[in-house]
Parts: sequence; C-alpha cells; structure tokens
Amino acid sequence: MKILAIETSCDETGIALVEGRKEGSTFIFETKKAALLSQALLHSPYGGVYPNLAKREHEKNLPALYEQFKDEEFDAVAVTHGPGLEPALWTGIEFAKKIAAEKKVPLLPTNHMEGHFISSLAQPNGERSNILQNVRMSALALLISGGHTEFVLMREWLQYEIIGKTLDDAVGEAFDKVARMLGLPYPGGPEISKLAQQHRSRQEVGQKNGLVEAEPTRGPFSGQILAAPKLPRPMINSNTCDFSFSGLKTAALYALRDRGGIQTLSPDEVAAFAAELEDAIAEVLVSKTRKALWDTGAKTFVIGGGVAANRYIREKVEALVLEEFPDVDLRLPELSITGDNAIMIAQAALVRALSGKNDAVGSDLRAVGNLSIAS
Ligand code: KG4
Ligand code: ZN
Repeated sequence: MKILAIETSCDETGIALVEGRKEGSTFIFETKKAALLSQALLHSPYGGVYPNLAKREHEKNLPALYEQFKDEEFDAVAVTHGPGLEPALWTGIEFAKKIAAEKKVPLLPTNHMEGHFISSLAQPNGERSNILQNVRMSALALLISGGHTEFVLMREWLQYEIIGKTLDDAVGEAFDKVARMLGLPYPGGPEISKLAQQHRSRQEVGQKNGLVEAEPTRGPFSGQILAAPKLPRPMINSNTCDFSFSGLKTAALYALRDRGGIQTLSPDEVAAFAAELEDAIAEVLVSKTRKALWDTGAKTFVIGGGVAANRYIREKVEALVLEEFPDVDLRLPELSITGDNAIMIAQAALVRALSGKNDAVGSDLRAVGNLSIAS
C-alpha cells in the first residue's frame, strides 16, 4: 500500500510518499520520495513560530513541493489533523482534501504524536527503508518537542494512555526561550546543545591540564569565567510523571537580570549557561523516565520529537536504561526522523491502515489543535 502524507502542524512543510507492507506482525516501510521545507529561519526574528506566517508559508510551499509528487500513484492521502497550530494544520488538510478528491483516494486523518511515536519505534532497514518489528508491550514513549512533553504508554497496539505531561511549557519551548534570552537564533535547542558541548569539552581539557576545578563554581554569577548559575530542576522530586518547565525560563531570566543582562556575559559564560540549562533539562527527563519505567514496568522505551535529537539527552537516557533497566528495549530514533516530517505521518497512517484501524473521512475533516493521542 502506498500513502502520500502531508505534514503542516508547525513550521515544517512536509510531503512524503511511503510504501508499506505487513508481514505477520512486522511492518516494512519504503520511502519513495520525501520533501521537507523548514520555515525556521523565517520565524527566527520572533523567537518562536508565528502561526499566521506559518500558514502563509505552508500555502506557498505545499503546491511547490507537490510538483514532485503529482504524477505519482498512491492508495490514500494521510494528513496531520492535530495536535498543532490550527491555522497551519488547516492548510495541510485543505490541500490533502483536494488531492484525495483529484486522485479519488481515501483521506486518512493522522495524529502528529502517533507519527512521532511510530516512526521512533521503527528502525533502519537499509537505505530509505524502515522496519517496525518485535515491539514488546507495553511500550513507553517520551515525546519531547517544541509543542509537547509527554509520556505515552501503549499497552495494546495503537491504544494510548498519557501517563504524564508538562503542566505548562514544553521542553523544546524551554530550550527555545532561554536560547532567545542568550541571544541565540531560533530554534534554540540545537544552539544550546552545541554550546553546552563546547563548554563540557573545554571543562574536560581544563581539568586534564589542572586549570579548572573538577566541580565548577555553582551559585550566582561570580563574574569568573566558566561560572554559571545553578538552575532549578523543576518537579524532579514530585511523585508524578508530570513536568513543569516554565520555572526554568523564569529562573534563567532572573539569573541573567541579576548579572546585569546578556551583554555582560562572555562567550564562555554563555556556553556555561547553556550547559547548565541542558543539564537541568536532562536531569529532569532522566529522573521522570526512571519513575515512568518503574511505574509502568514497560518493556520497550523510546524517545521521539524534535528534542530527541539532543545528543546529551540521548546519552543520559541510554545510560539510565543500560544501568538500571537492562531488560528494557531502548529505541533511539534516527536523527533524520526526530524533527517534524511527513515520513512519520505516512508510517503512522500505514500502520493504522494495514492493521485495519484507520477510518477514512470525507470533506468534513477538521483541524484539532489540542488533539490528544489518547482520544
Ligand atoms: O518535533 P519538532 O520538530 O516540532 C514540534 O512538533 O514542536 O520539535 C522542535 C523543537 C524545537 O523546540 C527545537 O529547539 C527542539 O525541538 N530541538 C532540540 C534539538 N533539535 C531540535 N532541542 C534540543 N536539542 C536539540 N539538538
Ligand atoms: Zn512534532
């Protein structure tokens, strides 16, 4: 079965053509063609995604990208109908409706978070091919992106339960907002990560040469190079699998203000700040993952979403599972699939369709900004 998928929930315009088949309980996906246009640079001056600008760009990008697909044959059109920014989602839905009508194929509404979950579970199987197999139940996902931070538990195939989520900001938002305070471009996650990495490398070299204390000075800025504020680890000791990241943003703001503003920070101090933010976030994610794995007894664990590209978080999660949950299968998604894209939408729609669980809808399909994966 071949599916053309369309993704426009945020600031990436994606179209992909993926063929899928089911052999027993194994799904095999072949990506025939995939096109992706990021609007990140356009949104950069706003420090986040500006919904009406996103809508305008999707409207412009979709027909341009579709040029590469218009002569293809496919059995259905899948489209993200939520969660996401409604004006952005609508552009994809309207476009998908038109193509489905033109090609006289069914329209399959697809949940963006299911796309992250399924595509993160699937593993590389040679070039442009992925295989989804041997998923031991229950499977737990930590989905971390610019719009979401949630633990999703799949006890039975394609049946989801949210066992924890952020009570305020998403983790990607914390990266993006603090990055903005530090004068870094949007999206801030990769920028923070790069600086944090540089800082840690310098610390290591410094330690080897005896130049830096093994434990760098913590506490309010001292003005010393490499000194960074200690940021909070919000809700790290709470007895739930929920998160809160808005306090981190505020703490970062106060730390900068107390210091006299970003302009007083040397590049090394900005990097130390970035490392502290990444540490705080990674510690919270690891601690909550430990709790979620204990509470659920999940046999498979996967991370997905844009923030799952973060190298440091991947290393910390991997260490946790290896050291404390050696019986859990850990799946770390390929970096090419972590950010928003249409391949993940095609894979989720294929899994549903091939399992007989995707109901085609007609022209009344609507965008649902806060669509839950558990509904
Ligand atoms: O899944 P995604 O592409 O879009 C949403 O559905 O939100 O995630 C985008 C988010 C942004 O907040 C971006 O800063 C973050 O993912 N991100 C990262 C990294 N790469 C992307 N955050 C931390 N480290 C990274 N390497
Ligand atoms: Zn996403």
